[in-house]
Amino acid sequence: MKIAFAGDHAGYLLAEPIGKLLEARGIGFENLGTFGPDSVDYPDFAHKLAAAIEEGRADLGIAACGTGNGMAITLNKHQGIRAGLAWNKDIARLVKAHNNANVLVLPQRFISEADALECVAAWLDTAFEGGRHLRRIEKI
Ligand code: RB5
Repeated sequence: MKIAFAGDHAGYLLAEPIGKLLEARGIGFENLGTFGPDSVDYPDFAHKLAAAIEEGRADLGIAACGTGNGMAITLNKHQGIRAGLAWNKDIARLVKAHNNANVLVLPQRFISEADALECVAAWLDTAFEGGRHLRRIEKI
């Protein structure tokens, strides 16, 4: 299992703690950037992340920008990507259980590092429930 991360200048700080969490769980991690505070355009990194998943170089993704919305809006333009924004562990659990999100999106400017890590853990530890939720995601 490999998870790729993408963040803009308002999201890149979450890469390191998330990478550590994933590595501690034996999950492969690749940071696709950006790598510093210089201003960048979030779509460039969202498209990179979507391509990594679409091309099979990553199984799942985690993205972060200031609000999470720029990343989510861009990622969800890609067929086969279901990017869900979460800011607490209950939403992170439901975005997997009900929406089978293959990308978790975090709003770095509005979430603590501890809460972001709780979101990642909840999303990883939750299984998609299928059933009526499968019918619904097939209609997207
Ligand atoms: C960058 O200032 C900010 O606009 C971006 O990180 C994100 O919040 C956009 O949706």
